[in-house]
Amino acid sequence: MKDKRDHYYWEAKKKGYRSRAAFKLLQINRDFKLIRKGDLVLDLGSSPGGWSQVAVEIGAFVVAVDINPMEDLKGVTFIKADIMDEKLIDILLEISDSYDVVMSDASPKITGIWTIDHLRSIDLARASFNIAKKVLRNSGNFLVKVFQGEEIKNFYDDLKPYFAFKKFHSPKASRKSSAEIYFVGKGFKKI
Ligand SMILES: C[S@@+](CC[C@H](N)C(=O)[O-])C[C@H]1O[C@@H](n2cnc3c(N)ncnc32)[C@H](O)[C@@H]1O
Repeated sequence: MKDKRDHYYWEAKKKGYRSRAAFKLLQINRDFKLIRKGDLVLDLGSSPGGWSQVAVEIGAFVVAVDINPMEDLKGVTFIKADIMDEKLIDILLEISDSYDVVMSDASPKITGIWTIDHLRSIDLARASFNIAKKVLRNSGNFLVKVFQGEEIKNFYDDLKPYFAFKKFHSPKASRKSSAEIYFVGKGFKKI
């Protein structure tokens, strides 16, 4: 939703970012140092491309995936695909057998019904983690958005053993009214 009174909306326009979401990743990366220069980053639910832009600016190479199209971006290989489709994993592994960072800002179409939106976002977050389990390198980093609700604790418990560092975090650029929160996992352990 474009709210023209929103500070980050205007900041994104001024700085040439395709989305205000870019500021969320900038803030998360400042706090948790998930992406470094030279990393290969997988960006799930990437359109219109704000997060990919931030990763490229850091000096990362990006493979981006979205069910919707995304305009070309230098340094980014884009795949138009559904992250729920398990065939995607083979395509990603053909590009590289391991990724340094997997990040997912994928969101379901909002219905406004809290429980439905929450459960659909958990499905997308679990699909993102299934991909991460197959493509993320040992000690790699993972970031995923979820809408808060009753399943969040189970989701956290399922991911917990896979990461040396794990935390839910809400960046300043997330709207106060938003249900979204980000799971930050560092130091992935293949188990
Ligand atoms: C909030 S936007 C991402 C914004 C992006 N991080 C940026 O900075 O520009 C969420 C994206 O998730 C995508 N998405 C939702 N369901 C998906 C699915 N099943 N597979 C792939 N992408 C999906 C949507 O098409 C949408 O582009």
